[in-house]
Amino acid sequence: MTTKNLLARSMLAVAVASVIAGAASSALADEPIQPIRPVQQVNLAQVELGKKLYFDPRLSKSGFISCNSCHNLSMGGTDNLKTSIGDRWQQGPINAPTVLNSSMNVAQFWDGRAADLKAQAGGPIANPGEMASTHTLAVDVLTSIPAYVTEFKQVFGTDTITIDEVTQAIAEFEKTLVTPNSRFDQWLLGNKAALTANELDGYKLFKNSGCIACHNGPAVGGSSFQKMGVVEPYKTDNPAEGLSAVSGKDADRFMFKVPTLRNVEMTYPYFHDGEAQTLTEAVDIMGRLQLGKKFSAEDNAKIVAFLKTLTGDQPAFQMPILPASTDKTPPPTPFG
Ligand code: HEC
Ligand code: HEC
Repeated sequence: MTTKNLLARSMLAVAVASVIAGAASSALADEPIQPIRPVQQVNLAQVELGKKLYFDPRLSKSGFISCNSCHNLSMGGTDNLKTSIGDRWQQGPINAPTVLNSSMNVAQFWDGRAADLKAQAGGPIANPGEMASTHTLAVDVLTSIPAYVTEFKQVFGTDTITIDEVTQAIAEFEKTLVTPNSRFDQWLLGNKAALTANELDGYKLFKNSGCIACHNGPAVGGSSFQKMGVVEPYKTDNPAEGLSAVSGKDADRFMFKVPTLRNVEMTYPYFHDGEAQTLTEAVDIMGRLQLGKKFSAEDNAKIVAFLKTLTGDQPAFQMPILPASTDKTPPPTPFG
């Protein structure tokens, strides 16, 4: 599809969405969750470049690990592992959150240590436990590939590739990873047949029990840091401390960014330590530890049924074909 077509299509989508939103605005105003809006205002040239970089394992030392290895866009933007596998099969320290709708987060990472997606994207490339490259090596690899040099020049108007441009392009691509049109959003926008009575009961339980105090807004989370274990302490062997690691304040110990519940059906296992295997378990723990409520099996199942209506349209695009390495490209070092 050409850029012009894409633009026309997304503008049409926005126009349609605002008409629908206008019609349903009175109903919407009463709800603490808002629909996800389709992609808007992105630089399409940066998105196309960022998509290649997102899938390019040559940004890692081994030449084997890409962003998509741990944030697999065929699996809800996660790896579905308790904690991720990094360079040379290292065991990661914490569960990989989804990249889907991550542009809506108040900050990035469980402890919020990156302000935004651009600041985040440089981290994993140079993290010895993840992609284990360096920013210099990653830029050297890209610079050795003429097709990349040409594309960076077209996109940014510069002759030399910088890590700043790399992270900017990746972040722009990530902005397109939104998941509108879930059944719950259809319901929010006025299609009352989009949810079953059981799912609607689940939503009411979610609201009336107090889950909504922390999981709200368009992403159903992502907007604040909250203590894990409000009523009852959370027991875990995972050493992560949460926000206190960034703020240095003892009061912030065990405060984690509230995860988005969008597509939560796909982003198992749950919690920062990945210890909850199922939604049933996660909902039970949330009820007891955050709210002092023990849900009956029936109510738990209703809440889980509601959570599954938050699965939206997954990002769809053609797999990027990456330009081949050249004789000058620094070879990958997967084993040394
Ligand atoms: C080896 C696995 C691994 C790789 C490779 C990896 N990530 Fe991550 N990613 C993680 C983990 C684990 C976290 C959570 C770390 C934390 O919070 O301390 C994370 C966090 C994130 C977040 C924050 C999401 C949120 O809700 O806070 C974004 C965005 C992200 N990664 C994007 C990327 C991009 C872009 C790349 C490629 C440049 C990448 N990741 C490569 C495992 C990985
Ligand atoms: C006081 C704020 C708060 C309340 C209330 C709350 N949560 Fe959470 N929720 C969190 C935080 C913080 C996390 C992340 C905890 C962690 O990983 O250690 C979380 C994690 C989750 C997860 C796991 C998501 C993932 O991707 O790992 C689910 C599911 C969830 N909550 C559902 C609920 C439900 C259902 C309720 C109501 C019964 C609820 N929450 C009430 C703050 C809250």
